[in-house]
Amino acid sequence: MEYLLTQEQRMMKEMVAQFAREHIAPVARNNQKEGRFPSEIITRAAELGLMGIAYPAEYGGAGMDFISYMLAVAEISRYCASTGVIVSAHSSLAVDPIYRFGTEEQKKSYMPDLCSGKKMGCFCLTESAAGSDAGATKTTATLVGDRWVINGSKQFITNGNEADIAIVFASTNPPAKTKGITAFIIERSRPGYTIGKIEHKLGIKSSSTTEIRFEECTVPASHVLGELNRGFKVAMLTLDGGRLGIAAQALGIARASIEDAVKYAKERKQFDRPIADFEAIQWMLADMHTRYESAWLLTYRASLMKDRNIPYSAEAATAKLAASEAAMFCASKAIQIHGGYGYTEEFDVERYYRDAKITEIYEGTSEIMRLVIAANLLK
Ligand code: CAA
Repeated sequence: MEYLLTQEQRMMKEMVAQFAREHIAPVARNNQKEGRFPSEIITRAAELGLMGIAYPAEYGGAGMDFISYMLAVAEISRYCASTGVIVSAHSSLAVDPIYRFGTEEQKKSYMPDLCSGKKMGCFCLTESAAGSDAGATKTTATLVGDRWVINGSKQFITNGNEADIAIVFASTNPPAKTKGITAFIIERSRPGYTIGKIEHKLGIKSSSTTEIRFEECTVPASHVLGELNRGFKVAMLTLDGGRLGIAAQALGIARASIEDAVKYAKERKQFDRPIADFEAIQWMLADMHTRYESAWLLTYRASLMKDRNIPYSAEAATAKLAASEAAMFCASKAIQIHGGYGYTEEFDVERYYRDAKITEIYEGTSEIMRLVIAANLLK
């Protein structure tokens, strides 16, 4: 599908593919076994401009488009889905809302350090009782004099352990529910900002997922991101783009599964023949390829719409749903093709399977994606 890409996008894809093959592939398996955050890789990715791909140079970004960003996340995730989500959560969920909803002053003060990778970002929406029902946030922000005082606890925060800057959603008018939520930019250095429980997960083990607590955490009024009480829209519009980052991550996992399965099917012999000679294997590979290509096209379409400023919420949900299901399907079939070996840590396919699962959950579960798609059909 290279012919759908511009020359600039193809160059970006090839540059990131080479970086991922040379620097990520050799360490990905061990990093995830040890649950080690890939700091050296993120430093190197930042040097290549990968922490702010789709943002203008005047704010420290690489000045490229969203499709280039989507391609980069997929190439990184081909070798390490943890690194893929570190880059994606940072860019889509922290840099993007500042770029889209921030004042000129906010963009100038936060974006250069985030885009250069000098600082990491995270997105604090989810709470223990506000997962799919994101509007049920219990974290509050109260205006005391000219400062906002934040109290509450956020959960399952990607990059929570490393982030220097958090986009935080808090209720500024609890009875108004989704119409009473405001977004804030909060630095980790603020008193009252603490990192809580660090989660031990099934997959994406090299990325951190933590609780972040706010206890009497005070910020000036200039830290409000977007309009007062319009934060739920900031969250939803941000998540539209974030979902494409996750779709790209899922595409990387699906492609890894297909490539490893093809290689193994050609090498592994049973009944005196490579197992690739058997129709049972060929059909699995064909089904994997079909789901991957369909999901790729859906993700490309929604990314193109984003680049062209065409509303794309339902298309992003469709792409994420298709890509995450393709990743699960491909990883599962890749294990099946590897047989008993696929169930061991000797091969990467078991990691792909564990990593694939989260793509059906975070940044909106597959059930929420179906809800968004159906609502768009029925409106
Ligand atoms: N774009 C713009 N506006 C949107 C929107 C979108 N995509 N989706 C909803 N809205 C607007 C609605 O139009 C409505 O606006 P008005 O008040 O002006 O009418 C408002 O938001 C409220 O919408 P709903 O009544 O539909 O809200 P709801 O409470 O029923 O929730 C939902 C809708 C789609 C289920 C939403 O809650 C949702 O997306 N839930 C999933 C949350 C999620 O994805 N969480 C992931 C957290 S991030 C993460 O995973 C961590 C990480 O670090 C990776």
